[in-house]
Amino acid sequence: MSKFIPNTLSIAGVDPSGGAGVLADIKAMSAVGAYGTGVITALTAQSTQGVMGIYPIDLAFIKQQIDVLFDDVRIDAVKIGMLGQEPVIYTVVDCLSRRQPQHVVVDPVMVAKSGDHLLEKAATAAMREAMMPLATIITPNLPEAGVLLDMRPAETIKEMYGVAEKLRRLLSDQDERWVFLKGGHLPGSECTDLLYNGDQMIEMPAHRIQTKNTHGTGCTLSAALAGLLPQTENTPQAAKIAKEYLYKAIARSGDLAVGSGHGPVNHFHHWWKPTNA
Ligand SMILES: Nc1ncnc2c1ncn2[C@@H]1O[C@H](COP(=O)(O)OP(=O)(O)OP(=O)(O)O)[C@@H](O)[C@H]1O
Ligand SMILES: [Mg+2]
Repeated sequence: MSKFIPNTLSIAGVDPSGGAGVLADIKAMSAVGAYGTGVITALTAQSTQGVMGIYPIDLAFIKQQIDVLFDDVRIDAVKIGMLGQEPVIYTVVDCLSRRQPQHVVVDPVMVAKSGDHLLEKAATAAMREAMMPLATIITPNLPEAGVLLDMRPAETIKEMYGVAEKLRRLLSDQDERWVFLKGGHLPGSECTDLLYNGDQMIEMPAHRIQTKNTHGTGCTLSAALAGLLPQTENTPQAAKIAKEYLYKAIARSGDLAVGSGHGPVNHFHHWWKPTNA
């Protein structure tokens, strides 16, 4: 069988500052060795300071973007990011159920690092009931997990175990469906993530890097996962590499000088060397 570079697709919004959304996803996919494509669900007016405006894309045009792309390009993995509104969720669910890509990473984006809401409250049920069953892996942060399960966000690793078990029940009961529960919002000096498939519970510990450059960490992680899943033996291996890649990208964010708020991570830390700009 011939070997190809995997083709990956980000379905998400655009952050013009390039730290999050489709622009960041394409960087992360490229950095982990995958070809990146993108379907835009919304434009935003956004910087490292926050989200100042959201301009939704017409539903029929979202559908057309997905259909035109899939009609031509073999897509090995999809990453779903910001969808914004309930009808967008149903449109994307409808398209993907017809196409059945092998890997579907769902990042249930609800609130930006800046605290801005990125998903209408009414859309939570659609996310839970229509999107989750399509996912092969979901990557909620702790507040998002709380909203999806209608409970207070977990504050300890022990509580995270219970949350991961409850989240797994929202996914299809087929094998190889995973919950990647992100611990970036845990209080304290650790940001341990959990990976759970209903059988194996894997703790992925990490030391919290002291930096304010955490804009787009979630986008970067889920896009790296989409890029790595077609290239690895199994999901725990892809998750481990994605987390290490992100950790270094956060650690090397200080090489960049982008904006004065929550700056982006350094997606290309493998290759780029800072010079005197
Ligand atoms: N300061 C940090 N140091 C090390 N790892 C971090 C740090 N902040 C977040 N992470 C890791 O980054 C990943 C993203 O987690 P986080 O909980 O920040 O996601 P998120 O809230 O969805 O991010 P975003 O706001 O970009 O959507 C997780 O693997 C988390 O453990
Ligand atoms: Mg996020």
